Amino acid sequence: MTDAPTPSTAPARIGIVTVSDRASRGEYEDRGGPAIHQYFSEVLTSPWDAVPRLVPDDRDRIAAALIELADAEGCCLIVTTGGTGPAPRDVTPEATLDVAEKPMPGFGELMRAVSLRKVPTAILSRQSAVIRGRSLIINLPGQPRAIAECLDAVMPAVPYCVDLIGGPRLETDPDRIAAFRPRK
Ligand code: MTE
Repeated sequence: MTDAPTPSTAPARIGIVTVSDRASRGEYEDRGGPAIHQYFSEVLTSPWDAVPRLVPDDRDRIAAALIELADAEGCCLIVTTGGTGPAPRDVTPEATLDVAEKPMPGFGELMRAVSLRKVPTAILSRQSAVIRGRSLIINLPGQPRAIAECLDAVMPAVPYCVDLIGGPRLETDPDRIAAFRPRK
């Protein structure tokens, strides 16, 4: 029964993955994960549950967390924060592509374009998005302020993307984000 569609009454499960060596060692507080949680609390009006994870900048550990959230935890949407830059330990996009069935390059293109209006170093982020099974996985940079900057850009298309991969119906507050679903 693993292929049964998610019942529409069940809360959507959203994976929130903070990727940070220092936060995972407890050397500083994770601010990205709570910022993503806050974002979805403000934007989503349909029921949802957060499934948080905190992992070091390790390609295999990140990939394992993404596989667990997609395949075992049944998350329709998984958002990562951190590890998208050019530094040697930044491997979140590689780990995301490791678990991908389909790359979704438009997400990264749009988030970088929008971010570039805020900060010239936006081009340093290699953030991407992919589909794995019934999960949409989106990378965000590690800066907490980047979370709303990036999610505001792509969020109008996220509910329809989740519809198309067989996930639950996500509803948004139209005063915050107007979800776009093309008429059939
Ligand atoms: N995008 C937005 N919207 N806001 C930001 O502050 N910071 C940039 C970039 N993208 C930023 C952003 C910077 S300085 C870097 S180094 C890259 O994201 C990669 O960040 P990461 O390695 O923490 O993921």
